[in-house]
Amino acid sequence: MKIEIQHEFSTSAGAIIVPLAKQAELKETISFIAGKTGLSAALLHTDFSAEAKEMQVVYFQTEEQPKRLILLGLGEEPSIQTIITAFRRLVFKNKSRLPLHLAISFLHAPAEIRWIEAASNGIALGLYDIGLYKTEEKTPAAFDLDKLDLELLVPRDLQPIAKRTALRGFAIGQTQCEIFDLVNAPANKKTPQELARWAVASGQQHGYSVTLFDCPQLESMGMMALLAVNRGSEHPPVLIVMEYKPDGKALRKIGLVGKGVTFDTGGLNIKPSTNLFYMKSDMGGAAAVLGAMETAAKLRLPVHLVAVVPATENSVDGLSTRPGDVIGSYSGKTIEVIDTDAEGRLVVADALSFLIKNHQPDIVIDLATLTGSTIRTLGTQAGGLFSNNDELAEALLNIGYQTGERLWRLPLWKEYLDELKSDIADLKNLSSSPTAGAITAAKFLECFIEDHSAWAHLDIAGVTITDSEFSRQKSATAFGVRLLTEYFMGFSNLP
Ligand code: BES
Ligand code: ZN
Ligand code: ZN
Repeated sequence: MKIEIQHEFSTSAGAIIVPLAKQAELKETISFIAGKTGLSAALLHTDFSAEAKEMQVVYFQTEEQPKRLILLGLGEEPSIQTIITAFRRLVFKNKSRLPLHLAISFLHAPAEIRWIEAASNGIALGLYDIGLYKTEEKTPAAFDLDKLDLELLVPRDLQPIAKRTALRGFAIGQTQCEIFDLVNAPANKKTPQELARWAVASGQQHGYSVTLFDCPQLESMGMMALLAVNRGSEHPPVLIVMEYKPDGKALRKIGLVGKGVTFDTGGLNIKPSTNLFYMKSDMGGAAAVLGAMETAAKLRLPVHLVAVVPATENSVDGLSTRPGDVIGSYSGKTIEVIDTDAEGRLVVADALSFLIKNHQPDIVIDLATLTGSTIRTLGTQAGGLFSNNDELAEALLNIGYQTGERLWRLPLWKEYLDELKSDIADLKNLSSSPTAGAITAAKFLECFIEDHSAWAHLDIAGVTITDSEFSRQKSATAFGVRLLTEYFMGFSNLP
């Protein structure tokens, strides 16, 4: 890939893409573009109004060659997500005809540096091919990031950082595409061992260490809650522990946990049949953590990361944990398993205590497709955020808003804990009340954070896979990858 920076509306590229918001200056901008291209300002004004999802392609002739002008509408006050999706759609629909020599103009208000990252990120996502197991021979897309010769037309003040920003957007996008593959893969192609293999390969390629704990090791360590969930499965569990240390001084040690249930049948409290196949995505938290480890290492971000992924299936057979069974946990607390389908909190609980006891992180963030209750509450518009630390919660809320991976905070008041008291064990894994399910699940996790004072739990059940214009069925969003990456980047500004 080649990236060049210009500060004027002039290029030898075969196509110029101009992302435009619907705003007061639009008229002026269009007249300016018409002047530069020799196109009719009057026709451009009538045919393009910069609505969201609007795209207008027009052709003009220069001395060297015929060219395309691609006006990309973004609507009023576009969010970063809108910009990413506009570029993703453009590439997704036109990969066979976009020229490799391409220019994008950010010369027009209110384009700012974030638009450049969003555009390059969207371009990378647009190249994603969901047909993982299709046998038909694929004709390679003419449009290809490696061969791309990109000119960025940017105002002078953005010039020093434009190239770096674009490269970052592409790099994050490429990791997101790998995460799409992981989440979209069916459970027979992504056993816990396969997740572990993915981590090892990514760690080797991008420079972070990966340690795997297998079943006998987990037994001697006492990871009883993870083992209890695994009992019904033919595939052994694995605890994936990853560590990334930057070359310079790390400003913070951040601990991550991602729920890695590669398929959730519900166990003996078996789930209904409709849409059960989507439970292949119950490792969305693990996927986000794997992706964030990869981007942090790839971009050499200045944070020290330790990530723990408890990976297992939740299956059914004669050995499965039964409803009512009492199990142990890494923390030592005993748990009455009221419902074997509330398995996510069991594996995440063990991973949280393991992480905090052994690695002493300054900040702890877990991501898990934990409850249907979150989906009923927030739909697919935001993940649920729970935190015992206002500063951490605020930071994540802000970044989520900026990256388009939105979060919404829900409370952790102590009264909710009453619902998790068991008669015979320290805790039960399901609330006695059918209400506030996302909150009581978070309260359960809080019992395993060893009194850590900066913990955040992200319930991403509703946002890990969603309906979209890029697939027929629900498909992966890689939710969390950009959020965590941006969160880590924020530490570069600290003293
Ligand atoms: N993996 C599910 C949560 C989930 C539901 C994720 C729908 C994505 C889409 C989790 O393990 C689960 O089964 N939760 C149950 C808990 C209940 C038994 C207390 C739920 O939310 O229904
Ligand atoms: Zn479940
Ligand atoms: Zn689950």
